[in-house]
Amino acid sequence: MFLGLDLGTSGLRGLLIDAAQRTVAVAEASYPTARPAPGHSEQDPRDWIAACRTVIAALKAEAPTEMAALRGIGCSGHMHGAVLLGADDAEQRPCIMWNDTRSADQAARLDAAADVRALSGNIVFPGFTAPKLMWVAEHEPEILARTARVVLPKDYLTLWLTGAHATDMSDASGTSWLDVGARDWSDRLLAASGMTRDQMPALHEGTVPVGTIRPGLADELGLPRGVVVAAGAADNAAAACGIGALEHGDGFVSLGTSGVLLAARDRFAPKPESAVHTFCHAVPGRWYQMGVILAATDSLNWLARNLQADPAALTAALGDRIGPPGRLRFLPYLSGERTPHNDSAIRGAFIGLDIGMGHAELTHAVLEGVGYALRDSLDALRDTGAALKRVTAIGGGSASRYWLELLATLLDLPIDRPARGEFGAAMGAARLATCAATGAAPEAVMIRPPIAETIAPRDDLRAEYAAGHAAYRNLYPAIRALQS
Ligand code: XUL
Repeated sequence: MFLGLDLGTSGLRGLLIDAAQRTVAVAEASYPTARPAPGHSEQDPRDWIAACRTVIAALKAEAPTEMAALRGIGCSGHMHGAVLLGADDAEQRPCIMWNDTRSADQAARLDAAADVRALSGNIVFPGFTAPKLMWVAEHEPEILARTARVVLPKDYLTLWLTGAHATDMSDASGTSWLDVGARDWSDRLLAASGMTRDQMPALHEGTVPVGTIRPGLADELGLPRGVVVAAGAADNAAAACGIGALEHGDGFVSLGTSGVLLAARDRFAPKPESAVHTFCHAVPGRWYQMGVILAATDSLNWLARNLQADPAALTAALGDRIGPPGRLRFLPYLSGERTPHNDSAIRGAFIGLDIGMGHAELTHAVLEGVGYALRDSLDALRDTGAALKRVTAIGGGSASRYWLELLATLLDLPIDRPARGEFGAAMGAARLATCAATGAAPEAVMIRPPIAETIAPRDDLRAEYAAGHAAYRNLYPAIRALQS
């Protein structure tokens, strides 16, 4: 039995699988995000541990015999968060999250420093870890002085489980401290933000065992002793493992809080100026690239909140088959944007509101706007040489067939919708646990899930949506000029 623990932005999901990768039990527990000031976004790592205890207890209640046969655990989690630990491993402040933009100035400074893009392979986005530590140095120097180590969110779970300070290549890639091509911490990058190698956790490939569960904790949780814990993965890399996207040309589109278009790569081929992310994969010798938009289902949820409607009801009311592009345009920059604009200050817009428009037009515009933004990411990815021939849809938003047909048409790619079941980051984490505990080859474990439906681009609407995208592309410079 193997357990994947995915530390998501809104909650922790635990998935227990057997050796044949069948789902045995699933449990979830949520935690809050604090927004103490505009642009700030924080979570309390102690809430993650509480959620982990709740999830493990629920899994034990659901599958006691199977949990007693647990052999491996793998953690995945939201990326880029800074967890600051004292010499005694106690957290010194709440975790500063991936969607926190307070360190935009520090990020811009670091991004402009010599060698930083070349070594890290990426723009230093405000959400990344290094500029957060520069912000702490400037605003909370007494906290930085007490900081012996910085770990990433899922690595805090691994530390609690094993006592080991460990991370994996895929999560380390999002810090701006890793030489992503060499798969090693870079002393030059660390020095650029005032950090040193001894403040970093040990680096491993995601499939490697980093320790076993602490005997005292195993007894306390009622788990067997000796359970192996894998180095794990960043959530996006774990999701790629979960749908078997390892080979060049494989990829996914994720409609979660953020939207991600990911392409697996067999080599390091960075192109930071395109605002594409180039990161190590969670398995040895592989990388991946992705375009990230900051508000995908977040845009739909924002609309639903303001219309006092249920997001699923809003999309269901549109039906399953798309029509031509709407006349209303939506720019989904509610929290700023990464790919392709790298602009944390930009904000969203509706353009073309008409007195006759209601819920349906607003909802369609939001889904279409997110789709256009992901088309921007596809263009940026293609510019790096990434070859996507089809993509698998994952994330909460992929429950809407309408949204997937819109995306298939806009991206001009077939979209595979997996059959009901588990195939996201928690599955990827459980698969990494399988590799770590059994020594199985990643290629044998990270296979593609069964597909329920392949949604083809709508030939009759392709040209209209391509024209819609061209019109959408003209709007960013216009609203940028108005907002500055
Ligand atoms: C990726 C990113 C998000 C988080 C949230 O760079 O910031 O996808 O990992 O899950």
